[in-house]
Amino acid sequence: MSEKLSQISDLRQNYTLNSLLKENVSDNPFTQFAVWFEEAVNGDIYEPNAMILSTVSENQPKSRTVLLKALENDGFVFYSNYDSHKGEQMADNNKVSLLFYWDRLQRQVRIEGTVSRISEEISTAYFQSRPRSSQLGAWASKQSEVIENEQVLVEQLEFFTKKFEGIEVLPKPENWGGYVVNPNKIEFWQGRPSRLHDRLVFDLVDSDWKISRLSP
Ligand SMILES: Cc1cc2nc3c(=O)[nH]c(=O)nc-3n(C[C@H](O)[C@H](O)[C@H](O)COP(=O)(O)O)c2cc1C
Repeated sequence: MSEKLSQISDLRQNYTLNSLLKENVSDNPFTQFAVWFEEAVNGDIYEPNAMILSTVSENQPKSRTVLLKALENDGFVFYSNYDSHKGEQMADNNKVSLLFYWDRLQRQVRIEGTVSRISEEISTAYFQSRPRSSQLGAWASKQSEVIENEQVLVEQLEFFTKKFEGIEVLPKPENWGGYVVNPNKIEFWQGRPSRLHDRLVFDLVDSDWKISRLSP
């Protein structure tokens, strides 16, 4: 075993940067998220909009990273391939969770809610705003499918590059687009000394957000 792995139980940090008290947070979890997100963007975090998306179907949870691309109408928006594993899981079960971990700020945000597809118009507008190379990549990849080797992707990319040569505005693949997660629970976690972390959770009850403090 590598030296680092054998010493894994010694890896620990003490959290001393900040605190999170009811009197200092907004009544609205989206406003509070916006405050923390801005601090994450300014906080030297490589990809502050990276979030773990967990889905469940047939009793099997699966997690993977996706990028938050908008926070609109109280929903967290990301883009993916509708035929991917995650797409299949979300078609089967629309209950999902999202998780942000901003290590340099010693913060975590957990979101639970329901997911749905966003409109084709918004997906198309976003698709066409991406760099051409990313658009071609979306055409070339049958996300989550088994492929023989990496050459398959190179050939697919060449195929679509040629196919769309001279076409300025690429169409969006039918099976590619956005999802929005509308939360019913958002928890803000701030690391504290002695593992006595601050946890404030917002629950949506009868269209109002109720805030509670949880034991760490
Ligand atoms: C930092 C990072 C950002 C990612 N962003 C996305 C994304 O926005 N959309 C996406 O479909 N996959 C994204 N991926 C890839 C996914 O994590 C995953 O590998 C892929 O979507 C296939 O997942 P699935 O087989 O569970 O559907 C990202 C991966 C990383 C590490």
